[in-house]
Amino acid sequence: MQKQEKIIEMFNQIAPTYDKSNRILSFGMDINWRKKACERVLNLYLKQDLNIIDVACGTGDMIEIWQKSALKLKKNINTIKGIDPSKVMLEIAKQRFKDLEFIEAKAQNLPLELENADIVSISYGIRNVMQRQEALREFSRILKKDGILLVLEFTRREKKGFIAFFRDFYLKNILPFIGGLISKNKEAYKYLPNSIDEFLSQEEFVKELEDVDFKVLELKDFSFGISSMFIAQKV
Ligand SMILES: C[S@@+](CC[C@H](N)C(=O)[O-])C[C@H]1O[C@@H](n2cnc3c(N)ncnc32)[C@H](O)[C@@H]1O
Repeated sequence: MQKQEKIIEMFNQIAPTYDKSNRILSFGMDINWRKKACERVLNLYLKQDLNIIDVACGTGDMIEIWQKSALKLKKNINTIKGIDPSKVMLEIAKQRFKDLEFIEAKAQNLPLELENADIVSISYGIRNVMQRQEALREFSRILKKDGILLVLEFTRREKKGFIAFFRDFYLKNILPFIGGLISKNKEAYKYLPNSIDEFLSQEEFVKELEDVDFKVLELKDFSFGISSMFIAQKV
C-alpha cells in the first residue's frame, strides 16, 4: 500500500474514538485554537454569504466552529462542505451534520469547481497530504480571487529550551500512551510526533504558500507554539 493510502487507512481505524482522544489529548485547547482562527478569518474577510470548504474535515470539528463563529459575528454562510478521503471519518461527520454535503476526496485532487470558495480551511490535515504542493495549487484553484486559506497545523520546531523539551516529551511519550489506550491503536498515535518531525518549519511552509502565489497575511503561535495558524490570501 502507498504511504498516502496507509495514512488514510490509519484514520479510518482511529475515527470512532478520534473526537474523544482529541479532547483529552489537547486538554480541550484545540477548541480554543479553532475558535480564535475562525473568528480571525471572519473578521478579516469582509464579504457576506460565504462559501466555505473544509478540507481534511475529519469528523467535522472545524465545521462546527465555522458555524458558531459565523453566528457570533453575524456572518452568513451560504454553503459549507467537508472533504476527506477517510470513509469512516465522513460517516461520523454525516451523522453530526445531516444537512451538509461531504465529499470523499483527497486534498491534492478536489472535485470542486474553479474560483467558487471564499474560504478554504484545513486543520491538522496538511501534514498528512503527501502531494502537498498539488494540494496547495488545488486550494488556490477553488478559491475566489482574494479568498482566504486558513491552515492550522503542528509545525516542526527547534528542539531547544524547556517548552520544546516538554512538547517533545508529551508528543513522544504521553500522547502515544493515552491515545493508544483510548483508540487501542498505539501505532497511530506514534505517527503524530513522527509526522510533525517530518513536516516543515513555519518558515518553510510560508515559502511553499508563497510559491503557489498565496500572500501570507498572518502567522500565529497558539499555546507556546504547540499549534500554528497560517492565514493566506489568494492574490
Ligand atoms: C488529524 S485529522 C484532522 C481532522 C480535522 N480537520 C480536525 O481538525 O479534527 C487529519 C485528517 O486528514 C485526513 N487526510 C489524510 N490524508 C489526506 C489527504 N491526502 N487529503 C485530505 N485529507 C487527508 C484524514 O482522513 C483525517 O481525517
